[in-house]
Amino acid sequence: MPSVASNSYREIYAESVTDPQRFWLETAAQLEWDVPPTQALDSSQAPLHRWFPDGKLNITHNALDRHVAAGHGDRTALIYDSAMTQDSRSYSYAELRDEVAAAAGALAALGVGTGDRVLLYLPMIPQAVIAMLACARLGAVHSVVFGGFAAKEIASRIDDAAPDTVITATGGIEPTRRVEYLPKVAEALHLAQHRVGSVVVVHREGFEHSAEQLASRSEATWHDWQTLLSAAEPAAPVSVPATHPLYVLYTSGTTGKPKGVVRDQGGTAVALNWTMPAIFGIGPGQVILCASDVGWVVGHSYIVYAPLLAGATSVLYEGKPVGTPDAGAFWRMVQEHRINTLFTAPTALRAIRKADPAASKVTDYDISSLNYLFSAGERLDPETQRWIGEALDVPVIDNWWQTETGWPIAANPVGIQQLPVKVGSAALPMVGYDVAVLDPLGEPLPAGQEGNIAIKLPLPPGTLYSLWGDDARYVEAYLSAFKGYYTTGDSGYIDQDCYIYVMGRTDDVINVSGHRLSTGEIEAAVAEHPAVAECAVIGLADELKGQRPAGFLVLKAGAQISQEQLREELVAHVRATIGPVADFKEVAVVEALPKTRSGKILRKTMRQIADGKDYVVPSTIEDPGVIEALLPVLRGSQGSKD
Ligand code: COA
Ligand code: AMP
Repeated sequence: MPSVASNSYREIYAESVTDPQRFWLETAAQLEWDVPPTQALDSSQAPLHRWFPDGKLNITHNALDRHVAAGHGDRTALIYDSAMTQDSRSYSYAELRDEVAAAAGALAALGVGTGDRVLLYLPMIPQAVIAMLACARLGAVHSVVFGGFAAKEIASRIDDAAPDTVITATGGIEPTRRVEYLPKVAEALHLAQHRVGSVVVVHREGFEHSAEQLASRSEATWHDWQTLLSAAEPAAPVSVPATHPLYVLYTSGTTGKPKGVVRDQGGTAVALNWTMPAIFGIGPGQVILCASDVGWVVGHSYIVYAPLLAGATSVLYEGKPVGTPDAGAFWRMVQEHRINTLFTAPTALRAIRKADPAASKVTDYDISSLNYLFSAGERLDPETQRWIGEALDVPVIDNWWQTETGWPIAANPVGIQQLPVKVGSAALPMVGYDVAVLDPLGEPLPAGQEGNIAIKLPLPPGTLYSLWGDDARYVEAYLSAFKGYYTTGDSGYIDQDCYIYVMGRTDDVINVSGHRLSTGEIEAAVAEHPAVAECAVIGLADELKGQRPAGFLVLKAGAQISQEQLREELVAHVRATIGPVADFKEVAVVEALPKTRSGKILRKTMRQIADGKDYVVPSTIEDPGVIEALLPVLRGSQGSKD
């Protein structure tokens, strides 16, 4: 296991919050800079903070060229393992550097330059990693959209980020179907107000739609990825200020409009480089499988940037934890690729447990290389933690973070010091995160008392510095509720030993199979149906998925539609507007929705009743009879539908 420092966790943590300038400048010195920073934190625009304001570097130089120059060009950087196509391919650091340089050259030839946005809509294939790094090499800003989102979601991101270039593929592969990407991209280009200049297509075998068929549907010029790369001059890394944007990643908020989380090249490189050995126990030459998707933040950080910054090997897995072909998929890869750290989500572990309750598949493989299992995306429930810990006989480590933070706020930093695991807790705050639990007035709560989890400003490097093009929305959404703090939107408590317990959201964001969704956005799609007068979408507790969305609808007077037909139409509509990832399948028609006198729907009370919890009916309720009438419907929604 790589050693980060001989100091204990508590010493390192204390230094990071008491003397952040020194701590982060020393940490930054582990990277190669074109202009080394002389200053860590710039608070001149507080509450907006920036890191390493006078430093210059390129993150891909540090993730690729630096290792090749140090003589590690033959070391494996990336292993692509597809359970969908049975393809497998390894890239050494030298090969990946060359591919990225060629792709960057190809993009430059299309006119992509520093600061330009490039939207990526790609499945889990090596070109996704290469395209992200190629953008970063030029100082262009990538914005990856998860393949489970529909055309309208792509269009809204095109309008917000205003990319001149889109990189996509002919399609992605789900266990039961091929997902044609090109019709969705063509529709998104049509729906968006912003005009995209170029679409670059990676051609995969077995898809119906080709770029040639769809090119005529938009004003953009469509290109073939391989043809562009074959003709490209390799591009060198462009030196950019540390504060230069690396990427925009959209995530769900409480409103229907996704938030464009933006972070910079320098802070991201410094922070992720620190986390790989310190938190995840991964050093040069070691192997990590982060079984997420490049469309999510976990994939950005721990499939792409962090492993490469650390000189490690990253496994890019195209497949599911179960059914491709079975619940032994992860253990097969551990054996084949000698994986040291596996990072996944609780929902994936629960899916494995459901398919293989005795964990018999584990014993089919040699998993002796595995040192740790990390879990994030939602709270790791104690039962799953115990089950998988016994099955694998390695420490199972929960870690808590968000798209906004880009790396764990709380974890057990096994590379520094393995702290006692407390089941149900994401353990202790990581460096630079000064975490507090506040009451509604912003007063810190005593140990053990649940409240709003907030982080004292400044956030450490590598976290978001704003929302894309909208500082005011950033301040309003995150920095206004509690002065001097960033509001996480999570609720929970901290115990006497400073262990953090994250219990749920304080807002209308739900977490379905580790995917973050906005109930407001689903409601907006449901409300478009001509028979729907009003609706409330809430997240119900679900044994497998953590939560699942359910819609409660009031029909317009005189609407003539059966409940089953309405359900079918709404499910299809939500899939077509948000995407299959919304996983919206449950609909109940009710007489009325419970509201306060000011018209606010009492979603929290509805959720509490549906989950079988003690519920509170606010005194401001307009008509208590509505709740009474809803009780049987809500109680009927209880429990897992799987
Ligand atoms: N492209 C197109 N469709 C996709 C997709 C993609 N990339 N990913 C998921 N979908 C579809 C699925 O096919 C499914 O469609 P269906 O309703 O027709 O069956 C729907 O979206 C819901 O998907 P999901 O909830 O993910 O279910 P699943 O059965 O495909 O997979 C898990 C279940 C547990 C394997 C999966 O949710 C998972 O790996 N979750 C972890 C997420 C994660 O890593 N989060 C990051 C934090 S670590
Ligand atoms: P996302 O931005 O998609 O990564 O989702 C972030 C949200 O997921 C957090 O705000 C939490 O609500 C939840 N979450 C992620 N990891 C954990 C965890 N380890 N424990 C509890 N909740 C988590």
